[in-house]
Amino acid sequence: MKALEGVKILDFTHVQSGPTCTQLLAWFGADVIKVERPGVGDATRKQLVDVEGADSLYFTMLNHNKRSITLNSKNETGKEVLERLVKTCDVMVENFAPGALDRMGFSWERIQELNPRMIMASVKGFGPGPYEDCKVYENVAQCAGGSASTTGFLDGPPLVTGAQIGDSGTGLHLALGIVTALFQREKTGRGQKVLAAMQDSVLNLSRVKLRDQQRLEKGPLTEYSQYGEGIPFGEATPRAGNDSGGGQPGRILKCKGWETDPNAYTYFITQAAVWQPICDVIGAPEWREDVSYATPPARLPKLNEIFGRIEQWTMTKTKFEVMDICNPLNIPVGPILSMKELAEEPSLRDTGTIVEVDHPERGKYLSVGCPVKLSDSDVEVERSPLLGEHTDEILSKVLGYSAEEISSIRESGAV
Ligand SMILES: CC(C)(COP(=O)(O)OP(=O)(O)OC[C@H]1O[C@@H](n2cnc3c(N)ncnc32)[C@H](O)[C@@H]1OP(=O)(O)O)[C@@H](O)C(=O)NCCC(=O)NCCS
Repeated sequence: MKALEGVKILDFTHVQSGPTCTQLLAWFGADVIKVERPGVGDATRKQLVDVEGADSLYFTMLNHNKRSITLNSKNETGKEVLERLVKTCDVMVENFAPGALDRMGFSWERIQELNPRMIMASVKGFGPGPYEDCKVYENVAQCAGGSASTTGFLDGPPLVTGAQIGDSGTGLHLALGIVTALFQREKTGRGQKVLAAMQDSVLNLSRVKLRDQQRLEKGPLTEYSQYGEGIPFGEATPRAGNDSGGGQPGRILKCKGWETDPNAYTYFITQAAVWQPICDVIGAPEWREDVSYATPPARLPKLNEIFGRIEQWTMTKTKFEVMDICNPLNIPVGPILSMKELAEEPSLRDTGTIVEVDHPERGKYLSVGCPVKLSDSDVEVERSPLLGEHTDEILSKVLGYSAEEISSIRESGAV
């Protein structure tokens, strides 16, 4: 049995944030019914197309293990079918622009009338407030949630991250809200609304930067490189380059081959507990006992010099050799892995974190599988559905329409 077996999800999501959430729920065993506009479907099906005529990787990698029904929710018959879906499902997930669901005639009040047990989960760009009506995409959320202002180098502009913390990050938050609401419904019998705003999710992931904002009011942030460089702090948490977010200084350092390989780098943390092995490994035994280097506070003003010396050593090793040498000594390091290296990493294939999936239109492709492993709920990654692939199956088997009713639904143009 799968953890969420028996839970039916009306998946009214599109693009990335909502589909990330419902894909996770599908991997945990929920029956996810993706409702898409007839003839069009989720816009990502045709975005960044790499195989002519086939659903894009953008779509296929976010919609595994789901079924697809096409339905025009603005058509009268389409609305009736949608009502039946609302009555049948446990959870409705949507990430339309603010107000779109109300305009369709499916306000929260109406949904509760149709199904008081319904959990209605939404992603929106912003929570209630001045920006609640805005449409929001990934990078807007990264900027509005405090990530961009704290990412990048001190002398450069704000930066967005490669990780999709606004979209996929919010989808993760929403999934947690949904299973929590399902758990509460077990006791109360009632559904509820679940909202994950992208700004809130990014801010939650940037929590340590709000920590630093408050510390800054009490004095300089001594673990930031800029402190050691004598650069004064302003009013807000600054960009900290590759400094670590914790109390232990860390940097990204060049490794052998950096001149030609953009990813020949390692992260290196000078954790206080392993200062002596670090000195031995890099060939600086004189720093072990020298009082001007031996303690973390003594080192803070000298971090550039210290990391420069460590880099002299890392540049003589590949990033994997650095890992092999430092790990047994408990010195925390991490190779900068490229997407190519991750795609080819056998251990990630073994755990199902990277999976190969076959698709009738595009053939084999790689995807990220379920990143959370449950010991008693296996995940088999199944390809994403073609547009409307399960329309008849859902109309008959899930919603109980007869063959004649299905023909008349088709004639109405609702599906
Ligand atoms: C992502 C976003 C910016 C895209 O905006 P968009 O492409 O204009 O799409 P919308 O959500 O506004 O939907 C467009 C219309 O399609 C309609 N529509 C969607 N599915 C439909 C269906 N099956 N049948 C009929 N109409 C449908 C909607 O009702 C809406 O119509 P309306 O404008 O008349 O109300 C917007 O949906 C949004 O801000 N979502 C919330 C935040 C979010 O999730 N952002 C990240 C996305 S990864």
